[in-house]
Amino acid sequence: MVENLRLRLFILCFYLVNTAFKALTEDEIVKRKPYIVYMGDAADKSHVEAAENHHDLLLRVIGDESKAREVKMYSYGKNIDGFVARLFPHEVEKLSREEGVVSVFENTQRQLHTTRSWDFLGFVESKYKRRIAVESNIIVGVLDTGYKVIGAKFFHLLESFFDSDGQTAADYDGHGTHVSSTIAGVSVSDASLFGIANGTARGGVPSARIATYKVCWEEGCSDMDMLAAFDEAISDGVDVISVSIGGDSLPFFKDPIAIGAFHAMKRGILTTCSAGNNGPDLFTVSNLAPWVMTVAANSIDRKFQTVVKLGNGLTASGISLNGFSPRKKMYPLTSGLLASNVSAGGYGEPSTCEAGTLGEDKVMGKVVYCEAGREEGGGSRGQDHIVRTLKGAGVIVQLQEPTDMAISTLISGSYVFFQDGTKISEYINSTKNPQAVIFKTQTIKMLAPSITSFSARGPQRISPNILKPDISAPGLNILAAYSKLATITDYADDKRQTLYSIMSGTSMACPHAAAAAAYVKSFHPDWSPAAIKSALMTTATPMRIKGDEAELSYGSGQINPRRAIHPGLVYDITEGSYLEFLCKEGYNSTSIGRLLGGNNKTRKEYRCVDHKRVLGSDGLNYPSMHKQVSFTETKVSEVFYRTVRNVGYGPSTYVARVWAPKGFRVEVVPRVMSFKKPGEKRNFKVLVDGVWAETMRGIMSASVEWDDSRGHLVRSPILLFLSNNDYP
Ligand SMILES: *[C@@H]1O[C@H](CO)[C@@H](O)[C@H](O)[C@H]1NC(C)=O
Ligand SMILES: *[C@@H]1O[C@H](CO)[C@@H](O)[C@H](O)[C@H]1NC(C)=O
Ligand SMILES: *[C@@H]1O[C@H](CO)[C@@H](O)[C@H](O)[C@H]1NC(C)=O
Ligand SMILES: *[C@@H]1O[C@H](CO)[C@@H](O)[C@H](O)[C@H]1NC(C)=O
Ligand SMILES: *[C@@H]1O[C@H](CO)[C@@H](O)[C@H](O)[C@H]1NC(C)=O
Repeated sequence: MVENLRLRLFILCFYLVNTAFKALTEDEIVKRKPYIVYMGDAADKSHVEAAENHHDLLLRVIGDESKAREVKMYSYGKNIDGFVARLFPHEVEKLSREEGVVSVFENTQRQLHTTRSWDFLGFVESKYKRRIAVESNIIVGVLDTGYKVIGAKFFHLLESFFDSDGQTAADYDGHGTHVSSTIAGVSVSDASLFGIANGTARGGVPSARIATYKVCWEEGCSDMDMLAAFDEAISDGVDVISVSIGGDSLPFFKDPIAIGAFHAMKRGILTTCSAGNNGPDLFTVSNLAPWVMTVAANSIDRKFQTVVKLGNGLTASGISLNGFSPRKKMYPLTSGLLASNVSAGGYGEPSTCEAGTLGEDKVMGKVVYCEAGREEGGGSRGQDHIVRTLKGAGVIVQLQEPTDMAISTLISGSYVFFQDGTKISEYINSTKNPQAVIFKTQTIKMLAPSITSFSARGPQRISPNILKPDISAPGLNILAAYSKLATITDYADDKRQTLYSIMSGTSMACPHAAAAAAYVKSFHPDWSPAAIKSALMTTATPMRIKGDEAELSYGSGQINPRRAIHPGLVYDITEGSYLEFLCKEGYNSTSIGRLLGGNNKTRKEYRCVDHKRVLGSDGLNYPSMHKQVSFTETKVSEVFYRTVRNVGYGPSTYVARVWAPKGFRVEVVPRVMSFKKPGEKRNFKVLVDGVWAETMRGIMSASVEWDDSRGHLVRSPILLFLSNNDYP
């Protein structure tokens, strides 16, 4: 919770590995790499039984009792069956063929990918219904850089020599605190970063409780630690899991987040994940499993403007988080080029204010203008730090590409758009004594929501016919609590501490969606993870400000928690449906059977049957409809089969309304559905056909909405993507 930032730590338990190898030589230790051996569900096995089984397997493969003991680093076994061991490639090969093994994959590191934001969602405090008694029993598990509330555990199977964080769940980064306080925490007024974004800070479900699982350390967030944290969180009885972490997209059985979230789903826990920050290119979205809710980041209705005024009266509005007010009316202005001390033929690029290219005597007391670099991004490369070291008064950095993300500066600073930068450069060239002043950042209103440039886009490559991201939530310039153990700018010599900080990323969007899921759960404790996700998706608000990518950037739209507690109808998905889906996706039936659990007495053999005809285009009762089609002829024709369950009260009649672009037709059969009582189910199908037009650029965006004329609008986007076109 917000006020609980003093980080009085109590560590409930921790996992350390015995690193004292004996039968293994130093050389062998270096050559063996940690692998995760995933063996499906641990149900019906005791932890000891599982661990013995793991040892037997290793012994069979390695052939040496003491080596087998020493290579094993960790046994999972509460919910997830599997272990971590240091292995050679040939042992990996052998293990993959062993009975009971679903997959073997190398341990990799994944990366980490707020206040006004809740009001912006129409979730104004005291103006929405809450079930506080239930809410305060809701626990959200957060896998991140640490924090401290009802319980904090840390997972660090492979301790690194370079890690200064120590073996505690304390947050040395700030990310975990920021994410957690977006979910829960009571109102604190006058929250701001140096007065910027001044307002009331609170969590989305203020009374809910946070259980922290620290899995991210200086070197990143390792697969084996994340899997251990999932195994633990499921047993701890959390209600929702929030994971603002991502990496390369992998087949589900080699992706620790997909595996962990699958086992969470089996126990009724919804996992929300960030979509990633590699946008705006297509095919960048991560966390793709259909049983997770993948969250994109949208803007909220404010932006941070840092105005620069020149000696000739011209102004430019840059973007940054600049907490410094000018002490003088004007400061002498120079540029990286003019302040260069690089001799002819020397190394370095003074125009962009590269480290070591500027002379202190030419920078001291001045505002320095730095050109955009030519390399990718062309934004901040620490110019604020470089200029401060040389005792400069401020820094203006030209941006190569427009950005919507404001970042904190170490000294007075502003990032200006490309054309504004050119104007500043012209001014410097035009006068003998150029001058400038940088004002403190102001908060101004802007049109929203729109999807942020960095938010990762679909379509996806793992399950091409499931639309990802699923949904979007605020993730731009979010003010939320911060850790006192962390620096604001990430520079080690930044000694400023803050109770609140402003951060951007799908990392910030994910906890908003987790809180919304917890909120829905407080009204419907018996709903499945898929039903909660369906409620959030079908009531989401599609973006008014559309890019070319349409639903590939925001999925069903921005979350609307207040509507999500009364969705009218839900698209539910059972564990069995997910298994059938995996069959259709081509996963091995023996492996799928392992996900069911059971020991080898109780386990039933799982057989994939041919559901292709029954399941239609995408094979899952998903709340959105998506297909990547290849171009064979300009005509396209697809069918989606769906089942909805009535979660409204009394009798109701729903009529289907459809939208489709010119040249396309969406038909719903039947067009009218009547329900007599809650819990009833109805099947329908959606037929989409039409002819591609060049102007569509390979993206067909349509929708179907069930309307009961009594306030329930159950909306699903339909998106067809031409996978072999030359878009963009
Ligand atoms: C924030 O706003 C409140 C009232 O709106 C004001 O009293 C307070 O001084 C402000 N805090 C900062 C740091 O600007
Ligand atoms: C230029 O200045 C920087 C920083 O003041 C210094 O590190 C560097 O050695 C100087 N280079 C030359 C060629 O004087
Ligand atoms: C200002 O002068 C420098 C050095 O001659 C040059 O590189 C730069 O392009 C000029 N700026 C503009 C906007 O013309
Ligand atoms: C699944 O994998 C197992 C073990 O690798 C193999 O024996 C079996 O034949 C595979 N099943 C199918 C249907 O491919
Ligand atoms: C049960 O599983 C173990 C380990 O996988 C195996 O050694 C044993 O033969 C199995 N028993 C039966 C009855 O299949």
